[in-house]
Amino acid sequence: MKIGVPIEIKNNENRVGMTPSGVFELTKRDHEVYVQKNAGFNSGFLDEDYIKAGATILDTIEAVYDIAEMIVKVKEPIEPEYKLIKKDQVVFTYFHFASSEVLTNAMIDSKAICIAYETVEDADGTLPLLIPMSEVAGRMSIQQGAKYLEKPIKGRGILLGGVPGVPPAKVLILGAGVVGYQAAKMAAGLGALVIIMDINMKALRYVSDSMPNNVISEFSSEYNIRKHIKDADLIIGGVLIKGAKAPKLITRDMLKDMRPGTVMVDVAVDQGGCFETTKPTTHQDPTYIIDEVVHYSVANMPGAVPYTSTMALTNVTLPYVIKLANEGWERACENNAPLAKGLNIVKGKIVYKEIAEAFDMEMSF
Ligand SMILES: NC(=O)c1ccc[n+]([C@@H]2O[C@H](COP(=O)([O-])OP(=O)(O)OC[C@H]3O[C@@H](n4cnc5c(N)ncnc54)[C@H](O)[C@@H]3O)[C@@H](O)[C@H]2O)c1
Repeated sequence: MKIGVPIEIKNNENRVGMTPSGVFELTKRDHEVYVQKNAGFNSGFLDEDYIKAGATILDTIEAVYDIAEMIVKVKEPIEPEYKLIKKDQVVFTYFHFASSEVLTNAMIDSKAICIAYETVEDADGTLPLLIPMSEVAGRMSIQQGAKYLEKPIKGRGILLGGVPGVPPAKVLILGAGVVGYQAAKMAAGLGALVIIMDINMKALRYVSDSMPNNVISEFSSEYNIRKHIKDADLIIGGVLIKGAKAPKLITRDMLKDMRPGTVMVDVAVDQGGCFETTKPTTHQDPTYIIDEVVHYSVANMPGAVPYTSTMALTNVTLPYVIKLANEGWERACENNAPLAKGLNIVKGKIVYKEIAEAFDMEMSF
């Protein structure tokens, strides 16, 4: 199969859909891979690396879309890419269709086969192509939180781990899923005192069984949250209710109970945020202050660490790319139930219920 890897043109997106190692795996199976010039540059991969792995470098995005039977990328196509996508071309990427009717209509019109990373689903309901980005964001939330706790950027001026003779900072983490667990691991490693809350006892049991003693699990309730925010230095929001907006666990009135310079990192911002005062920010301007509380709520945190994020993403996408290339999309989806769940729009027809429902459109089976 001819596979195309274009450069990401969405603002501030530095990841790339395939690493040289992925190219190597495909070319050794006799597939042809066409990579746009400099596509991997911001993730630390040079054109020479791709060429050594067997890729052909093409100068323009048009040339990549033109030759490829399957496009492998990272973010949803944006307007300039709509006209490049061809009938019967497979496009394997994050789409998030339910949040854009314009994109949905454009992909219906293209008659392409759109397979969305975010809806590939394992039998137990987990989303294997989303987990790595939550792992990145969870770990990064502590790195960012630690930075914004510094005094020159209006934080409380406290070192997460303390020093001998001086107590560490207290980190409150809401949600013990992928984001929360990874955040707790990082904060604990830095020596902070960590309280992690969830309403899922299974998640809390796992935390309690596997984390060091400076991590304390506690059931999530308004009462318990109000108790801990009074002396928390860093608060991480990592809750998710699948398919719904995040619950507002920290309301505006609670800010006055916090100490000036407390930092709140709302990783759940992409689902509306779990703090009432959350509004999406960017890597250019990541924070704002309300009632002397520093808010960080960047909607695409992994975009700031493209090297790690590209590797983490492509580690999990590559096995599916290989299946699609070897078997063709129809047989690959027939033979692989998780991948079949990724089918969103096929040759002009919506085949994923939630997308049809989001825009009151017709669904095909
Ligand atoms: N900002 C970013 O760049 C970025 C990156 C990756 C993920 N995310 C977002 O982070 C959020 C968390 O993702 P995840 O992969 O950890 O989800 P997850 O499903 O693994 O974990 C969510 C946890 O929240 C818990 N929860 C639900 N209601 C709760 C409540 N009232 N109190 C406490 N816990 C509660 C759930 O029981 C679950 O354990 C999602 O909204 C995801 O989209 C954002």
